[in-house]
Amino acid sequence: MRRSLVVGNWKMNGSLASAKSLVQGILAGLGNTDGDIAVCAPYVQIPAVSELVKGTHLGLGSQNIADKASGAYTGEISAAMLAEFGVQYAIVGHSERRSYYGDTNESVAARFIQAQTQSIIPILCVGETLEQREQNETFAVIDEQLDAVIKAAGIEAFKAAVIAYEPVWAIGTGKTATDDQAQEVHAYIRNYFAKQNADIAAKLQILYGGSCKPDNAKGLFAMPDIDGGLIGGASLDADSFLKIYHSI
Ligand code: G3P
Repeated sequence: MRRSLVVGNWKMNGSLASAKSLVQGILAGLGNTDGDIAVCAPYVQIPAVSELVKGTHLGLGSQNIADKASGAYTGEISAAMLAEFGVQYAIVGHSERRSYYGDTNESVAARFIQAQTQSIIPILCVGETLEQREQNETFAVIDEQLDAVIKAAGIEAFKAAVIAYEPVWAIGTGKTATDDQAQEVHAYIRNYFAKQNADIAAKLQILYGGSCKPDNAKGLFAMPDIDGGLIGGASLDADSFLKIYHSI
């Protein structure tokens, strides 16, 4: 049985004070912890958030991770640096990193591998643009994104990884994929892995991301191959984020 997982991606938002207040609000409303929950803070807020979540059910993640272990890579943050603060997850290949900052399928694969060198669970983001969906290229795009990581890391690496299906056209737009649209792609992803390793496919957590809100989370999470969500905007408000979490 797969555990559910809801992860907040705060993106480039907030201050040290607002991060502390947000974490305190989430901790106060956690209630029953049937599923796993985590927040991915901006790098500079990670030390403070790390202190606040220590010993709690609330996990901590980063929004990116270096594709190298150490060295002359100005501005990058390594897996070892993040591991020092107890970071358990790292988002890799978010569409905003791919489209704005030139992350390629190959560099995403390297970031994925670096995370696992420090036992950090990579949350590998895959998904198509509206144009690609309209051209019926969704599955081909996801194949390419997954193939590149499996080629570099191997299928066994997905025993300690999470996938997030994030249709680019649903991110930050308020235009959420329907339950059936999301389930179709999640089932495709799970079948992609089942062809190579049935056990990994059965255990793989596949999250949905893209305008997941308190009013649509329940329907999405009821789908058989949706194991939770990667939440952007709604994760910046403790009540909204908790409502999504309690929709599991
Ligand atoms: O990583 C999650 C994010 O891309 C989704 O953003 O604001 O549509 O929930 P949002």
